[in-house]
Amino acid sequence: MKGIILAGGTGTRLLPLTAVLIKQLLPVYDRPMIFYPLNTLIQAGIRDILIIVPPEYSGSYLNLLGSMFQKHGVNLTFIVQKRPGGLPEAFILGEDFLDGGSSALILGDNIFEDDFTDAIGSFVSGGRVFAKEVPDPQRYGVVEFDGETGKVISIEEKPQEPKSNFAIPGIYLYDGSAPEIAKNVKPSARGELEIVDMHRAYLDRGELDVRTITGAYFDAGTHDSLLEASVYVRDRDFRSRFHPIVNEAIDEFNIEFKRLVSLKK
Ligand code: G1P
Repeated sequence: MKGIILAGGTGTRLLPLTAVLIKQLLPVYDRPMIFYPLNTLIQAGIRDILIIVPPEYSGSYLNLLGSMFQKHGVNLTFIVQKRPGGLPEAFILGEDFLDGGSSALILGDNIFEDDFTDAIGSFVSGGRVFAKEVPDPQRYGVVEFDGETGKVISIEEKPQEPKSNFAIPGIYLYDGSAPEIAKNVKPSARGELEIVDMHRAYLDRGELDVRTITGAYFDAGTHDSLLEASVYVRDRDFRSRFHPIVNEAIDEFNIEFKRLVSLKK
């Protein structure tokens, strides 16, 4: 399975921070946000990852990540998205990269404590999304389950009156039909392609699996959640729980950076 990280978007809820730096490069405690979703994919065994970036920050992403994982067996590919048009676009832009195979799409501002190795390793076909109980479901895609059978009854994007407290967080596993499904999604009232329409397409085919996760989860797209994520990460020593490849790659990057700085003096 290949991975995709969506690392663009306008980040208006984080202004004025995002007027000077893209959201996914803002710090979550001691490292840019993007390392968290990157770690989630690498930890789960994914080694081929597409990062979708906006033109204004493509250089920043490349400077930071371009050769960081080269000798660690992680292949990063970058694609520039000229204008953000909704999450399903990731599969349209990534169609050639995916080459008919299955993928895990993770949002660049989503921070997970859970380890997805089993969920990703056991994935065969269809779609698999996750459900996480949250206090503020209206901020998310929301899934409603039948109390007796546990079957999915409804999926709604940011409902004003959520039918459950289960958010669908920003990591989605889809099989090779994702690009075709994405191309058939119609823009919503806010003019964007909505990821919940892709979940619904798999649900209609009887091919959507929803798994509950229980670890801490942050959509770091607001000032409060960004701060909460930073504090959580510091207090729970997230760093030591990162996959060794990621920690080593960051340490090597820092050493090389310092070496280059000293050469310039
Ligand atoms: C997006 C999705 C939503 C999902 C959320 C997770 O919303 O549209 O379904 O629950 O990500 O972070 P966004 O936060 O991009 O507005």
